[in-house]
Amino acid sequence: MEIIIKPTVAEAQQETAKIMRRQISRKPDSVLGLATGSTPIGVYALLAAMHEQGALDFSQVSTFNLDEYVGLEAGHPCSYREFMREHLFGKVNLAPSRIHFPDGTAKDVPLHCAEYEAAIVRAGGIDLQLLGIGREGHIGFNEPSSSLASRTRIKTLTPQTVQDNARFFGSADKVPRHVITMGVGTIMDTRHCLMLATGGGKAEAVARMAEGAITADLPASILQMHPACTLVLDEVAAAELKRCEYYRWVYDNKPEWQRV
Ligand code: GLP
Repeated sequence: MEIIIKPTVAEAQQETAKIMRRQISRKPDSVLGLATGSTPIGVYALLAAMHEQGALDFSQVSTFNLDEYVGLEAGHPCSYREFMREHLFGKVNLAPSRIHFPDGTAKDVPLHCAEYEAAIVRAGGIDLQLLGIGREGHIGFNEPSSSLASRTRIKTLTPQTVQDNARFFGSADKVPRHVITMGVGTIMDTRHCLMLATGGGKAEAVARMAEGAITADLPASILQMHPACTLVLDEVAAAELKRCEYYRWVYDNKPEWQRV
């Protein structure tokens, strides 16, 4: 796992956006896995600005979002589809036919989940998966105890995640209890995982994920087994890592050809 520690949230967001831009520049028809939550909002703003300035073309890009709430109709202001429209899709030239989302209103959920997996395969697999991390170490909505081999399926949120996401809904009782999420195995199949974590609230989960035991109790810890995982942090999110100095040393001594 490559761990990049930046002094500020803004610099961590810039690094993340630059890695995404490099991916699209190298492969204009990239398949991107996208994440929601507060953390990537600044990254999407940077990507939208790059597009606005003519420096980034999404016309051949395809996207698959990680997750969606069960039961929210299309256009619901708290749906993740709406979140993506507001922060990215409405601002760049992505073809609507290339945008993919789990459907939280699907009648046959297992069938829909199998079709979502099949659509990822048909697209050629995900080249770059953007990730955040939950306080309890979830990726997508793979809560603690998720199978580390899981595929796209329905999950029940933990009370902590319901609390954490209540700010988007106005109150915790309005947060759906169920979601459809790519599985841990689905995420592990992506060619490059790019996780951004910022703020002190994530420091413990980040340290357990990168330096602790691999365990379903903290699903993000499986990323230690991913052959190409980049973790971008601000100082505060990195505060509980034991080997910070080594990670900085690695970054400072990176061969020129590996730099973004
Ligand atoms: C959300 C999403 C995750 C996200 C995480 C952290 O509920 N399902 O994809 O990474 O929880 O969210 P935030 O960035 O708001 O802290």
